[in-house]
Amino acid sequence: MSDQLLITGASRGIGRAAAERFRKEGWRVVNVSRGPCTVPDVVNVRVDLSVPGWEGAVEAALREGPSGGRLCLVHNAALYEHDDALSMDADHLRRVLEVNVVAPLVLNRLARPRLTDGSSILYVGSTLAEKGVKGVASYVTTKHALVGMMRATCQDLAGTRVHTACVCPGFTDTEMLREHIGGDTAVRASVAGMTTFGRLIEPAEIADVLYTCATTPVLNGAVLHANLGQVER
Ligand SMILES: NC(=O)c1ccc[n+]([C@@H]2O[C@H](COP(=O)([O-])OP(=O)(O)OC[C@H]3O[C@@H](n4cnc5c(N)ncnc54)[C@H](OP(=O)(O)O)[C@@H]3O)[C@@H](O)[C@H]2O)c1
Repeated sequence: MSDQLLITGASRGIGRAAAERFRKEGWRVVNVSRGPCTVPDVVNVRVDLSVPGWEGAVEAALREGPSGGRLCLVHNAALYEHDDALSMDADHLRRVLEVNVVAPLVLNRLARPRLTDGSSILYVGSTLAEKGVKGVASYVTTKHALVGMMRATCQDLAGTRVHTACVCPGFTDTEMLREHIGGDTAVRASVAGMTTFGRLIEPAEIADVLYTCATTPVLNGAVLHANLGQVER
């Protein structure tokens, strides 16, 4: 009987680091993303979460896995687009909602029969799950929605011995951040300077927090900010 991680977006960044961490602890890992997770022995379900109809492939991967052990479901994949709340196209928001909010909901339903004692559903939020900044309205909106979904999940799982939490990373050195801030070293240094440690977070540090949450039921319903302390201006 072995434990299993079902994670979205482990082809790179925080998701990849989490896949590595859970594999190290002996968990079977199933990744759901378009590109593959290259961590050895990870099972890849190569689908685009913005296009409905991917559920069957995930269900098949779960059926091939162990039953009876713990399942940790991590909602990690996300779209981070430049847009604003006053001019955004509705179809654009629908696409972001599909990946950032609807996919987690569908995965919760697929995972439900396998959520044995000690299992967990972890949401990857953001600092922007609890505050807004200019120019990323769909991201801010959907990350706030995930905190709401986590809190609803906590209530709806009452009595099941399955726990849930939302981990909110700060500025983490991944492709998502690099794409957002560009290649300029001065900009990178100024972003690093927005943490009280004056550096970016390593994806492995967030993976550690996710592993801790998966194995710590008392964190049920918690929103955890893993951001090295953000400098307030
Ligand atoms: N990096 C940061 O500073 C930071 C800060 C706060 C919160 N976060 C959150 O942390 C999580 C991981 O972020 P990251 O920085 O590691 O991002 P990343 O490097 O951009 O990785 C995003 C992952 O999501 C997957 N993904 C994106 N669109 C997808 C789609 N349509 N279908 C399936 N998979 C899709 C990508 O896989 P494919 O491209 O292979 O499909 C990739 O594996 C996200 O929820 C993000 O909002 C990150």
